[in-house]
Amino acid sequence: MKDILVTGGAGYIGSHTAVELIAAGYRPILVDNFSNTDERLLEGMARITGQEPIVHRGDCCDLEFMRTLFQQYTFAGVIHFAAYKAVGESVAQPLKYYHNNIVSLTNLLQLLEVFEVRSLVFSSSCTVYGQPEQLPIREDGPENKATSPYGCTKQIGEQILSDFYRAHSDFTIGMLRYFNPIGAHPSGWIGELPFGVPNNLVPFLTQATAGHRQALTVFGADYDTPDGSCIRDFIHVVDLAKAHVKTLDFLMRQTSCCEAINLGQGKGNSVFEVIQTFEAVNGVQVPHSIGARRAGDVVQIWADASKAKRLLDWQTELTLGDALRDAWNWQCHLDKG
Ligand code: WQD
Repeated sequence: MKDILVTGGAGYIGSHTAVELIAAGYRPILVDNFSNTDERLLEGMARITGQEPIVHRGDCCDLEFMRTLFQQYTFAGVIHFAAYKAVGESVAQPLKYYHNNIVSLTNLLQLLEVFEVRSLVFSSSCTVYGQPEQLPIREDGPENKATSPYGCTKQIGEQILSDFYRAHSDFTIGMLRYFNPIGAHPSGWIGELPFGVPNNLVPFLTQATAGHRQALTVFGADYDTPDGSCIRDFIHVVDLAKAHVKTLDFLMRQTSCCEAINLGQGKGNSVFEVIQTFEAVNGVQVPHSIGARRAGDVVQIWADASKAKRLLDWQTELTLGDALRDAWNWQCHLDKG
């Protein structure tokens, strides 16, 4: 059984990926500082997989802590999720984001080099594109300066990896550019945990519908789009998790590569379409009102997902409705306690 280091492995996307890694016959070794997750996801993973997750509590910025893991295990590959990811918080606390997101990556790369672990999957983001001129956006499309320190840490991370690869061509690196991950495992045992007021659309929507928040505010309905609201490429977190396993499989078959890969549906849905779909699939009303535009918002973006299909033989299998059904199921599960 191949051991895979999963940093940030107790988090939202990390936990869903750990479940899929086990299903594919890997042994995920989780590392997490629990700054943005808690025991509930570990318990949920155990219920889904029938085995206790192997998890080490610690910080990826702690080089000596991370070294002990590479001394304890022989990793076949690494998936690096560990990073802060709240766009708004990154604007208020840029140093926290630059330190954490960059140092955790450079620490990891030092150890990959020393311990000759040659396959790395990196969690990147569509935010590296800024507002694309042309849609759908391809991986070789123009990159605009990211609109937040969070987005800059992803652009810098990709640059670090490209430079590292230029000096170490015997590595295989996948930089996965997520579009908008939403939803939860259909079992309802794992999902996105609510810490504070959600920045993102779907967790705020489910909490507002459950009565835990005031009505959802649609940040702008006067954009130059068919219904006036912004458009995004929403991808079910389980599809996203499976793409990580496919990427790992692909990288371990290569002797040398460094590829940026879009992970999205390959089509856009508007904020109003999300609300309408959520109401239709769940038979509930979403309390919402229209408010001012949110600074920094991209008007519309969706992926050209053909490279993932070509390289990984991966494409999304779940729909927007599936994701919104599973998001509501998770909210109801959380509310039952
Ligand atoms: C989506 C749309 C909002 C909340 C961010 C990061 C990106 C990635 C995904 C990590 C926008 C609208 C939202 C609300 C609203 N994260 N909205 N009312 O900004 O597309 O992307 O999360 O990789 O890097 O930037 O996601 O969910 O915040 O917003 O109307 O209460 O929903 O204006 O149009 P975003 P989001």
